[in-house]
Amino acid sequence: MHTDPLNPDLITPGLKTARIGSQIVVFASTASTNDIAWHYAAKKANDGLTVFAEEQSAGRGRTGNKWLSSTGQSILCSIVLMDEKLEPEMLTLTSAVAVASAIGTCGKNHAKIKWPNDILLNSKKVAGILVESKISRGKKNYVLGIGINCHQSPENFDEHIRPVATSIDSETGANIDRISLCKRLLISLDEWLITAAAEKQTVIDKWLELNTQLHSRVTLRHNNRTFTGVVLGIDPQKGLIVQVEGGGVRIFDADHTSNVR
Ligand code: BTN
Repeated sequence: MHTDPLNPDLITPGLKTARIGSQIVVFASTASTNDIAWHYAAKKANDGLTVFAEEQSAGRGRTGNKWLSSTGQSILCSIVLMDEKLEPEMLTLTSAVAVASAIGTCGKNHAKIKWPNDILLNSKKVAGILVESKISRGKKNYVLGIGINCHQSPENFDEHIRPVATSIDSETGANIDRISLCKRLLISLDEWLITAAAEKQTVIDKWLELNTQLHSRVTLRHNNRTFTGVVLGIDPQKGLIVQVEGGGVRIFDADHTSNVR
């Protein structure tokens, strides 16, 4: 039994962010925090609003996957970004750096990034990010959905993802305080979005430092084709740059590509 229920009155105090967490709402249960966030995205004044939930009945991940989590075990949140200037790929990179930085070092190892949006601890997935966008009258609105596994033990994960999934508690042997992590997450996102607006290269350098795939061999699935090659770098507008075996250099975009495990 964990005693860190999410509560706006505990997350808000001392949260000196410019934008992120401008308003905080917490649901005991909802279908998907991303859906609630899109509802709030109807009003410009809701920029930065953050929705948390203890439980989701229809949590979604990238490429049509479900995101499953038992009640009170995770941080499940969605952030409204109204009239955001960053392009989707750059926002994905920035969010990944922010989430990995908020999780920080657990045990001996720092949280790392697996392109496009997986956050790993000791090579297992501890968090995922789902960037959804709507463009209207030339303005880009986003909902940034983030799921961080906190208190799960291995048996809490479905059998097929158990070998590749983990939680912060599993990696540290301790009991993470979700309220502190929520604060760190909102502050980290706020700071990294400011950095990205001012100096994209700082974010890209940090992303490359935290990425697990640079100079490594990867296998990717893109538009129903499989590609294997060595990661050369990242293009902040187009995606992952790969020297494809027998096929020159290609850039893979996050929307149409997934890693083959
Ligand atoms: C992925 O790794 O595929 C992305 C997972 C994103 C999950 C989070 S949980 C909170 C928010 N609400 C959702 O329905 N999805 C995101």
